[in-house]
Amino acid sequence: MLFLLTVFSYIGLFPVSSFEFQVGGTQTQGWVVPPVNDSKIYNDWASETRFRVGDTVRFKYEKDSVMEVNETDYKRCNSSHPNFFSNTGNTVFGLDYPGPFYFISGVSGHCKKGQRLIVKVMSAEAEQSAPSEGEKSSGSRVAVSSLGVVSALFVLCFALSYMVLSF
Ligand SMILES: *[C@@H]1O[C@H](CO)[C@@H](O)[C@H](O)[C@H]1NC(C)=O
Ligand SMILES: *[C@@H]1O[C@H](CO)[C@@H](O)[C@H](O)[C@H]1NC(C)=O
Ligand SMILES: *[C@@H]1O[C@H](CO)[C@@H](O)[C@H](O)[C@H]1NC(C)=O
Repeated sequence: MLFLLTVFSYIGLFPVSSFEFQVGGTQTQGWVVPPVNDSKIYNDWASETRFRVGDTVRFKYEKDSVMEVNETDYKRCNSSHPNFFSNTGNTVFGLDYPGPFYFISGVSGHCKKGQRLIVKVMSAEAEQSAPSEGEKSSGSRVAVSSLGVVSALFVLCFALSYMVLSF
């Protein structure tokens, strides 16, 4: 019985294929005004990362804020009508549909100094036609799910032989 429960818990892992990305990567200070000589850090990071529908992005910051705005407001750093606003210091934003998402800091002057980010979320169809781009983030995703499959098969065989032996 224990084995079967284990099997089911492994099977339960299969649909888990969404990712949470910490904005800027985990090695950075989070969502801050970038250094003057490296003002494109967020978009450089985003262009190396593959975002999919269902993934989330986490912004970590102090005394700052994050806004999701439209393209015009992103380009102009206009914080007067965000679609989404948060200043909790730890904001998780769900990428629930394909397309570009535009984020800026709501603090006056920060966006103009480079604290802004475009996240391009691929649709499932677009992803199939462009399979080799941005493999960096999907590599670990594939590794996780194939490990799950292997473990589940292993446990399943084990459970079956256990049941056969006990009859
Ligand atoms: C930016 O300047 C800092 C110190 O002034 C330096 O350590 C860093 O390597 C520079 N970064 C780039 C991308 O040039
Ligand atoms: C963004 O919103 C502003 C204000 O509501 C509007 O004037 C502008 O046309 C919008 N831009 C886009 C690309 O939708
Ligand atoms: C920001 O948008 C508001 C409302 O659409 C507009 O009145 C204002 O001039 C804009 N500011 C900039 C810097 O574009």
